Amino acid sequence: MNRDDFPILKDDLIYFDNGATTLKPRRVVDKIVEYYTEYTSNAHRGDYKNSVKVDALYEGVRDKVKDLINAESPKEIVFTKGTTESLNNVVFGFAKNYLHRDDEVLITKSEHASNVLPWQVLEKKIGIKVKYIPLDENHNITEENLEKAITDKTKIVSIAHVTNAMGDVRDIESIGEICKKHNLIFVVDAAQSIGHIQVDVQKANVSFLAFSSHKMLGPTGVGVLYGKKELLEKTEVLEYGGGMNSYFESNGTYELKNIPERFEAGTQNIAGVIGMGEAIDYLREIGLEKIHQHELELKRYAVEKMKQIPNIKIYNENTSSGILIFNIDKVFSQDTAIFLDQFNISVRSGNHCAKILKDEIKVTNTCRISFYLYNTKEEIDKLVEVLNRQDEVYDNIV
Ligand code: ALA
Repeated sequence: MNRDDFPILKDDLIYFDNGATTLKPRRVVDKIVEYYTEYTSNAHRGDYKNSVKVDALYEGVRDKVKDLINAESPKEIVFTKGTTESLNNVVFGFAKNYLHRDDEVLITKSEHASNVLPWQVLEKKIGIKVKYIPLDENHNITEENLEKAITDKTKIVSIAHVTNAMGDVRDIESIGEICKKHNLIFVVDAAQSIGHIQVDVQKANVSFLAFSSHKMLGPTGVGVLYGKKELLEKTEVLEYGGGMNSYFESNGTYELKNIPERFEAGTQNIAGVIGMGEAIDYLREIGLEKIHQHELELKRYAVEKMKQIPNIKIYNENTSSGILIFNIDKVFSQDTAIFLDQFNISVRSGNHCAKILKDEIKVTNTCRISFYLYNTKEEIDKLVEVLNRQDEVYDNIV
């Protein structure tokens, strides 16, 4: 759908790497150019027309994000560089002070590096324990397994809403309910779900939520940390500078601004924030449910077609997102990706930054297809045609 809005698709590119980053519609790019060509100025610092306009646009995006995820207040929305920075803020700004030695944090082995490594570093720094929720045979979290993993020492559950390699969609509402019952902080990495599935932080009792603009049609280098107001109040600021303080004196006294400004030190990615706002408008005009159903239909179609190709192993046919990982038997995943690229088909290969997923699926490297709204069944037909020529994989790879 809406293919004409994406200039990059004018040639014969088949872009199946939306889990890594999505394409950008022209109006998002135009909005960014508009900022740079028509009213460039800093935010929250000027008393002239362009600056006032930028303030309104910038803060308007905070409202759009609030509405998108149904936060209670725009004060709960912090602009960051992206999911990684947001999760690092949760771990080192909040959890480092909230947790004590031997407290337990529950994650899974399907998580992306950004939701594993910071916790492992915190484990080394302050002696918390990172524990893994056992997954079922389809690599899903079940309520029963989560309940069993929770002990008196558990304080935080931190999981992806949709995992970036397996593409399993977690039922964050029921997990949020369990967290509420046990009085646990619930951290959600929404990098792969935002812009694909409706997220409601209040309904799911989410404590902190992290996502990136570039995975939802927006620009790179900008993202969001959502935190419940009372939790953001308890989160330590990790970066100090202009724009985030009310005053500081030569005797060392200072006062920080309120949330969320205190987390936005220095000149922010203003163009990025404005571009992200445009992407949110674009997505909401289409409707997230329509996008999700389109991706599911594409995945069903791809699985059905690819299962008819000899020597193809699919690792996640039962997950309900537009993400599909596979290998051609005895072919290194990167070689498959390079082969597909010769036909202008872009997929990601490797471990997809989910480096401990191998413990679950017993394979280190896979090829990943991740669909989005502009992908089509015709593109899948082309993929299938090329995969049927798998004997040629090594003909052109040097
Ligand atoms: N996290 C991105 C991915 O899954 C880069 O590809």
